[in-house]
Amino acid sequence: MIKQKYYYPNIPSPAYVLEEQKIRSNLEKLKYVREKAGIEIILALKAFSMWSVFPIVREYLDGATASSLFEAKTIFDEMGEKAHTYAPGYREDEIDELARMSQTIIFNSLDQYYRFGKKMKTVNSQLAFGIRVNPGYSEIETDLYNPASPGSRLGIRSLENVPDGINGLHFHALCENNSYTLSRVLDAFEERFGHLLDQLDWLNMGGGHLITSSGYEIEHLIQLLLSLKRRYSHLKIIMEPGSAIAWQTGFLKSTVMDVIDTPMRKCLILDISFTAHMPDCLEMPYNPEVRGAKYGTEGNHVYQLGGTSCLAGDQLGPYSFENEVKVGDEVIFEDMIHYTMVKTTMFNGVRHPDIGIINGRGEYRVQRSFTYEDFKSRLS
Ligand SMILES: Cc1ncc(COP(=O)(O)O)c(C=O)c1O
Repeated sequence: MIKQKYYYPNIPSPAYVLEEQKIRSNLEKLKYVREKAGIEIILALKAFSMWSVFPIVREYLDGATASSLFEAKTIFDEMGEKAHTYAPGYREDEIDELARMSQTIIFNSLDQYYRFGKKMKTVNSQLAFGIRVNPGYSEIETDLYNPASPGSRLGIRSLENVPDGINGLHFHALCENNSYTLSRVLDAFEERFGHLLDQLDWLNMGGGHLITSSGYEIEHLIQLLLSLKRRYSHLKIIMEPGSAIAWQTGFLKSTVMDVIDTPMRKCLILDISFTAHMPDCLEMPYNPEVRGAKYGTEGNHVYQLGGTSCLAGDQLGPYSFENEVKVGDEVIFEDMIHYTMVKTTMFNGVRHPDIGIINGRGEYRVQRSFTYEDFKSRLS
């Protein structure tokens, strides 16, 4: 008989736990693709910013991509590399530092490029500049994750000529997809932007390539990349997956604090919160795998899983457990390393709003501003 409480008795609860062997195994696969296809693969921090293992990641990959100044600094400090940086918009007061911390800056609009490009180049003359383009095609069914939907703000939709000073293009239109989807996205991209490729040095094909999942046909991807390189032999090809690096590499351990009755079914009160620690379960929404349990009502030990926040909807379920669950038992949520952890800290490294007060005389006082150190110290 399996007792949930015996899974990890020595790990204090709650905890996100990464398993080193599992991430090394993912990184081995990515390194194989990188070497066989002759491309660069970099880590997208937006999915996985656990900088304590960046030295391991650096053993296998070519560097990393940042979505903000804070992520770029983390890459610089912890990987010893300058970042490939892309964000939908850059703040004027950050561009000097961003230019210093980056090897590539990708702009979401030509307007941002014309406003900031020249200034950035005076700070770092080695900087390469790219534009994010939108291929207008994707196979992502959930709008929340679809950068190619009709109203998407991500990437420009047409470009007649390569602007002066731009030497690369970037697209990102996949999410947990395979190489066959990539092939169709590439067709759409080439149809819109293929006329520019002869004048460029690099093409960054974004993330969403779930290369490390069990059904992914790695050899098909390699053939697709080799064929792209045969057509554009001068182009450096870059892929920047995030999920694929940390895919199924760890779990979130929680503990049952109480078991209560509701008119519908029993509910476990856990020492975690879905809204605070696994927000994508509610946003998407999706039901994560729980060890020793199945989503659904079939079976004798069916429970709702309740978070410990005050939000009425901070719960998931129903889940059917192999055994009766008791106070003190562990509940292990699988595959909680990519995206989950970064979502509960400072997602994308986006600057946290100040906290301030307008007093009775109408004067504003900043009580607290958040810094790079705040971002970094929420992670490890
Ligand atoms: C521009 C860009 N690059 C890379 C990624 C990483 O994608 P994934 O973690 O799905 O591989 C994302 C994810 O949103 C992205 O927006």
